[in-house]
Amino acid sequence: MRQTVLAPALDAGNTPNLTDYEEACRTFSWEQAERQFSWSKTQRVNMAHECIDRHVEDGYGHKPALHYIEGAHQRVWTFAELKQETDRWATAFRNEGVKRGDIVFIFLPKNADCYIAMLATVKIGAVAGPLFEAFMEEAVRDRIDDCKGRFLITDPDLAARVPRKDLPSLEKVFVTAGPESCRDNEISWTDILADTFVSGSPTEWVDLDAPLNIHYTSGSTGKPKGIVHAHRAMIHQYQTGHWVLDIKDDDIYWCTAHPGWVTGTVYAIFAPWLNRATIVVNGGRFDADSWYAAIEKAGVTVWYSAPTAFRMLKAAGDELVGRYDLSTLRHVLSVGEPLNPEVIYWGVEQLGLRIHDTWWMTETGAQLIVNLPSEPIKPGSMGRPFPGIDIRILDDDGIEQAPGDIGHLAIRAPWPGLMREVWQNEEKYRSYFQFDGWYLSGDLAYQDADGYVFFQGRSDDMINSSGERIGPFEVESKLLEHGAVAEAGVVGKPDPLRGEIVKAFIVLKPGYQNTPELLQEIRLFVRSQLSAHAAPREIEVLAELPKTKISGKILRRQLKTWNADEEPVINASDSALSTAIPK
Ligand code: WT7
Repeated sequence: MRQTVLAPALDAGNTPNLTDYEEACRTFSWEQAERQFSWSKTQRVNMAHECIDRHVEDGYGHKPALHYIEGAHQRVWTFAELKQETDRWATAFRNEGVKRGDIVFIFLPKNADCYIAMLATVKIGAVAGPLFEAFMEEAVRDRIDDCKGRFLITDPDLAARVPRKDLPSLEKVFVTAGPESCRDNEISWTDILADTFVSGSPTEWVDLDAPLNIHYTSGSTGKPKGIVHAHRAMIHQYQTGHWVLDIKDDDIYWCTAHPGWVTGTVYAIFAPWLNRATIVVNGGRFDADSWYAAIEKAGVTVWYSAPTAFRMLKAAGDELVGRYDLSTLRHVLSVGEPLNPEVIYWGVEQLGLRIHDTWWMTETGAQLIVNLPSEPIKPGSMGRPFPGIDIRILDDDGIEQAPGDIGHLAIRAPWPGLMREVWQNEEKYRSYFQFDGWYLSGDLAYQDADGYVFFQGRSDDMINSSGERIGPFEVESKLLEHGAVAEAGVVGKPDPLRGEIVKAFIVLKPGYQNTPELLQEIRLFVRSQLSAHAAPREIEVLAELPKTKISGKILRRQLKTWNADEEPVINASDSALSTAIPK
């Protein structure tokens, strides 16, 4: 029989940065963590300074900061080189009119330019708005339009997906290429950099509450909302990087997410660099071979990914694992969706390591529920509250539940990583705080007598496919734009590989026939205009949709229960797979 508790002894040979969880819960305070940063001495701060420049000042300029791999191509940047590059880019942005507080959208593939753009934006006190590289026109438009973005940096390929005519607010589009690769109204970033001369440090000093970045995220209603974080998140991100990622000075750290998702910003850039790790960036799409090869090539020691990715690696076969030297790995973590016990046992058997689940959300800014390397893991649980974080399970009236009883997962607010605002949407921000002093996550969970939290589902209609959050409304709106679709209801359908897949129930307009060709066309319509990860993998045609009697709203709940026993109507090819998992 399999063990229900996995002891930390498996990680022997390495003393974790935190060895006594209970002691930390009793004694740790966020003020302690804050003392790490320049703020405590100068009352001014900047995330980019703490991630890069500070390490150069401390004598680590020669240390590799970024190891980029794409196929056979590799390149390493030291902290000194990154300081130089981000200084140059920051100066260039400033010369082009970007000021403190302005949003700069960053629409780039997972390459060094993307990371440099993020840090350079932050360095001058502007707000970084990373966009996922698989976004299509509609997804790009919704986000830039919502906050009337004025600046965007992108590359020649992705620039084609920026609908300039619908985005009058967009003043400048910088393209990371020479003028020959730019369209009429685009500005060659190569030319600009060639003319940029850095004098002195471009760092803009800000206070802890100054806006840092914006991530659009989906909910169960409406279009995606802009979650704005503040520089103070560094306190939370540093401390979780130190204790949960367990970063030490010789670590080679790889988080597989693209910066367009919050994990790809917080735990692929900020948290590891605040802890002075060497980070690995593996360009290109998901591919089991290339992932194992990246670990071997870079000598990855700490690895943070998502359950769908682990399930895909597991499905690629044990024989493949044996072909690579993965012996440098010492600590593995997961986030974004439920981590099945099966996958944890696979990790133990194939990698010789426990996979440490973590829970947080775009809005929370950093991890809140964690499995620490020094602590026992209960497969099926997301772990226990991070020291300094107060978690409760509440019923519908805000009353605390007894251990074992399912309720709303709530967190005592505030904490340093908590979002600063929802972009120009005070009402949405307030909706997270229905019970005074408590942030409501929208997740349902229970806590056992030892404090371990077990995820049970969402209390709303939000879909989680491959760890990516998808709002049904966004997909329904897009479906309705297709000429053949009269009505649409979109839900998550349980799926062994991706956790859930997006499933659409539609009613066709008169005169349209339910054919596989039409359904495939509708699917591709969403995929090419919105994004691959949001395109329904299954579409089912109904004569009518179930609706509430009074308001006529679509009953997604009912559609969800119909899912279980049905045969898929179309089963899309797996070509979407590489964009659907965190990169
Ligand atoms: C939602 C947040 C910031 C992390 C990446 C996702 C789900 C997150 C887990 C986990 C089960 C999880 C929750 C949460 N989720 N981590 N370990 N186990 N579910 O961030 O896109 O803002 O989504 O992802 O439902 O509310 P996100």
